[in-house]
Amino acid sequence: MTLRAVVRGVGHYLPARVVENSEFEATLETTDEWIRARSGIERRHFATDTDTTSSMATAAAQAALADAGMDVDHIDAIVLATSTPDLTFPSAATMVQAQLGMTHGFAFDIQAVCAGFVYALTNANALIVSGQAKRVLVIGAETFSKIMDWTDRATCVLFGDGAGALVLEAQEGAGTAQDRGILATDLNSDGRHRDLLYVDGGVSTGTSGYLRMQGNQVFRHAVEKLASTAHTAMDRAGVTADDVTWIVPHQANIRIIQGTAKKMKVPMERVVVTVQDHGNTSAASIPLALSVGRARGQIKDGDLIVTEAIGGGLAWGAVVLRW
Ligand code: UT7
Repeated sequence: MTLRAVVRGVGHYLPARVVENSEFEATLETTDEWIRARSGIERRHFATDTDTTSSMATAAAQAALADAGMDVDHIDAIVLATSTPDLTFPSAATMVQAQLGMTHGFAFDIQAVCAGFVYALTNANALIVSGQAKRVLVIGAETFSKIMDWTDRATCVLFGDGAGALVLEAQEGAGTAQDRGILATDLNSDGRHRDLLYVDGGVSTGTSGYLRMQGNQVFRHAVEKLASTAHTAMDRAGVTADDVTWIVPHQANIRIIQGTAKKMKVPMERVVVTVQDHGNTSAASIPLALSVGRARGQIKDGDLIVTEAIGGGLAWGAVVLRW
């Protein structure tokens, strides 16, 4: 028998403020057509005055717990992927722990930018298969609107805010690719590329800073590295492209999503796409897409899912799981 981290619940939260591409036309030299054609994005949600990364993460966690039919008493640990925590410390995860009324267990943040959720899933899986936790809340939550330079048209039209969460539970499997739960993971990073995507603030500057990106350079790395990490994880899981029910990719750019699916030999009919409605929500994008894909009726019990993401670092990775 093999211990598996099985998805028991999923949920998400999106702030009420929706901003269409056309709204940027008033303040920037840009157009709805350019943003749609180059990125696939049509609109995004931005945090309101009452939304923070931890408040959105808490709302998503509550939705996932309700979906699982559980409450916080059942949860041993919270793993929260974010690059935009409310404060430098304590972790946003401990804030969520308090907001959920959870006074046991442990909580910590993972910071791997847009790859954060695959890093968080991989760490939560390790906690479960090593017996350190039985049930783990895995959350991705971001308020990238707080680190946008609103005069930089090359970045500020691309990102959005939101949160998504999964409840993972330890269950015995047979040790085959037919098991439910996380079947394989693959993580990578290469800090030589740190200047392609970074925030120009932090403790060394005394400011929280703004996101800076050489978008076309990141693009050059994305398809190759995403397809490669997905293949590595699929090989480890013992599955092929034909076995994949859904790719649930990081939602940064429809052209990256299409290019990666093509390289993976999976048709776009088997890809969950939410980038048009959410923009790039960094570590929140995969759990948001999983939750929306489930709510749309796309993702069903037993489906084989491949998630893949790349972002600042560069950091990238993939997770193969059976829902
Ligand atoms: O999630 C983390 C990882 N991040 C990503 O995956 C993002 C990866 N990169 C991308 O998604 C794309 O590179 C972008 C959507 C950011 C840009 O698309 P692109 O096809 O790579 O365009 P580009 O950066 O090469 O820019 C083409 C032109 C430039 O003008 P010139 O130099 O050709 O005259 C830009 O200045 O488009 C211009 N441009 C814009 N024009 C209108 C850049 N932003 C805008 C804008 N509106 N908002």
